[in-house]
Amino acid sequence: MKTLIIYYSKKENNTKIVAHNISRILKAEIITVERVRVYELHKYDLIGFGSWISFGKHAKELLRFVEKLPSLHKRVFVFSTSKNGQSAGHLALKEGLKNIDCEIIGEFSCKGEWRLGIGPIGFVFNRGHPKGEELMRAQGFARSLMEPLKGELT
Ligand SMILES: Cc1cc2nc3c(=O)[nH]c(=O)nc-3n(C[C@H](O)[C@H](O)[C@H](O)COP(=O)(O)O)c2cc1C
Repeated sequence: MKTLIIYYSKKENNTKIVAHNISRILKAEIITVERVRVYELHKYDLIGFGSWISFGKHAKELLRFVEKLPSLHKRVFVFSTSKNGQSAGHLALKEGLKNIDCEIIGEFSCKGEWRLGIGPIGFVFNRGHPKGEELMRAQGFARSLMEPLKGELT
């Protein structure tokens, strides 16, 4: 079974780190959203979509990409990093994926560091996140995706 992870990370690469941890377990290919070749998506049985959360939603770069996709009929999962570390911001992406006939089989979220301000002036929220425990959780999430798909994974 072929898996692809499509991600968009902005500043700190928090989401990229999570994407790589998930991909290691799933033996997935991994690509940033700007580099995806839509005509190749048909090759994959499972596709993950993830980004940072910006103003309560996944990044517009990822949401717009999904909006423009044709009907995919794929099993998918979604993930994010954010200040609050929760999945509440996944709604818009999940809606977009349902609109292109995707079946969402799981979602993962965790905290990511957020530096606000310029130079020494400002705040750092969630310093050092995602941390080891969150990356272990991301890997556990990836394993939980594999469980019902056993037999199809290569
Ligand atoms: C402009 C901006 C808006 C953000 N909006 C939210 C938000 O609405 N909710 C939240 O929990 N985190 C928010 N964050 C925090 C980021 O989602 C978080 O730092 C994330 O881990 C960054 O991921 P990245 O390193 O992959 O880009 C925001 C950060 C920035 C810079």
